[in-house]
Amino acid sequence: MKILHFKSELRFLLKEARIKRNKIGFVPTMGALHPGHISLIERAKSENDLVVCSIFVNPTQFDNPEDLKKYPRTLEQDCFLLQEAACDVVFAPSAQEMYPQLPELSINFGNLETVMEGAFRKGHFNGVGIVVAKLFHIVQPDNAYFGLKDLQQVAVLNRLVRDLDFDLNLIACPTKREIDGLAMSSRNVRLSKEARMIAPNIYKSLNMAKNALLAGKSSSEVKDDILLFYEDLPEFKLEYFEITDFENLQNIVDFRPGKKTALCVVAYLDGVRLIDNLVF
Ligand code: PAF
Repeated sequence: MKILHFKSELRFLLKEARIKRNKIGFVPTMGALHPGHISLIERAKSENDLVVCSIFVNPTQFDNPEDLKKYPRTLEQDCFLLQEAACDVVFAPSAQEMYPQLPELSINFGNLETVMEGAFRKGHFNGVGIVVAKLFHIVQPDNAYFGLKDLQQVAVLNRLVRDLDFDLNLIACPTKREIDGLAMSSRNVRLSKEARMIAPNIYKSLNMAKNALLAGKSSSEVKDDILLFYEDLPEFKLEYFEITDFENLQNIVDFRPGKKTALCVVAYLDGVRLIDNLVF
């Protein structure tokens, strides 16, 4: 496995691969890899000739400097896991390498950025969109893999690929969960032992909401139930719980079974921002 830090060396290596008509799979990450990421690498391995994983904690997508500072950075361990998963190339650039100057361009994702993550994390999707567009230009993959835990990110990136005509397939892969239901996330390592024990309540709340909607409760009744659920668990600070249309992620005021729906939640626990969703 090659570990590269510079765009020029990665471009050179991939040019060679393209001449050999190798199919390139790409898994962009911010490191602190867990089995969810590794499942993306494995999928990419099974569908491509060469797999590139980028590890870059992208400062421009953090609206909270504390969150950026605390984001786990574990490059050595990540490379060990990637080597075991038979990843071919790791691209781990510095911030200076990715941003010799800060981008002046900004991307507006329309109605996708006025809700949920877009509403609560100002500038987040602009930061994600720009760094992913830069990485797509550098790697020029045939297939790029993202986890559905960040459902809104997948929607935003689908729009980026469509509107800017990137010549690649964006492949959204299912959320990996711990045995107790907690969605795997790089942030989970920051939870105390006590917080980790109660963290699966997030997934529990999503399932409760799904069952209540399917049993005929209205969207507003279910939202009230979820607020009460979190009021009974004062360790959590609920940021939002939304019942949304799976396609455009806009609020569903009047839920009807049969339409693909995404329940989306963000809650702080132990000062850690946890995100999850359930699609049905
Ligand atoms: O999902 C992530 O880890 C990041 O948002 C991404 C896509 C690597 C962009 O920095």
